[in-house]
Amino acid sequence: MWVNKMLSLNYQSDNFIFRDITKEDFADVLNLYNQNDQNIYATGIDRRMSYNDINEKYLEVLVNSHEFFTGIFLDKDGYLQLIGVIKGRIDYENSEEAWISSILVDNRYQRQGIGTTAVETLIDILNKNYDVKRLYIGIIAGNSIGRHFWQKLDFCYFRTIEQYIMLNTLAEDFIIMKREIM
Ligand SMILES: CC(C)(COP(=O)(O)OP(=O)(O)OC[C@H]1O[C@@H](n2cnc3c(N)ncnc32)[C@H](O)[C@@H]1OP(=O)(O)O)[C@@H](O)C(=O)NCCC(=O)NCCS
Repeated sequence: MWVNKMLSLNYQSDNFIFRDITKEDFADVLNLYNQNDQNIYATGIDRRMSYNDINEKYLEVLVNSHEFFTGIFLDKDGYLQLIGVIKGRIDYENSEEAWISSILVDNRYQRQGIGTTAVETLIDILNKNYDVKRLYIGIIAGNSIGRHFWQKLDFCYFRTIEQYIMLNTLAEDFIIMKREIM
């Protein structure tokens, strides 16, 4: 029996609902991750995600009080439709710092500002409730859409880890970007 310790980020905005991912959401999360090839940038895995992959990620989060794995939902007349996920953690050694390790928006809902609003909302929650002052994200160098996305959100280049990950037989660099919360 696992005790749920994950960092809970339940929140309701005018546009969407943040709710912690639960086992009941796995099928929908898998569908999202496996929706298209671009999503390997959110998973770091260059093949379809399996139930076991998602379960492993989930269990890691579940037992860690600094980790969040949050679904972005739309309220469709009482039924919550999963349209994105956002995952990350508050740093264990320096609790003024947090990482967003993955964000993904259903491609039918992309380019409508949902990713931007979700990140701004997350930053606000982390800052106000947990006193986080600095955010980091890591991005695979080939993900040019992702780079535009984070730049527009005022994340700045911090450093590069060369040949960090193998994706589709290519050794890709990993770019770390940072945003100070004012
Ligand atoms: C990155 C991602 C989360 C953006 O979500 P979104 O809800 O579509 O983002 P927004 O609508 O808030 O877009 C904000 C800005 O990002 C950039 N952007 C987003 N999608 C883009 C695209 N397809 N092409 C070029 N720029 C894009 C644009 O600058 C955009 O601003 P604009 O629409 O005013 O030009 C989404 O594209 C996604 O899920 N991608 C696959 C997974 C991934 O790469 N995740 C990030 C790595 S961790």
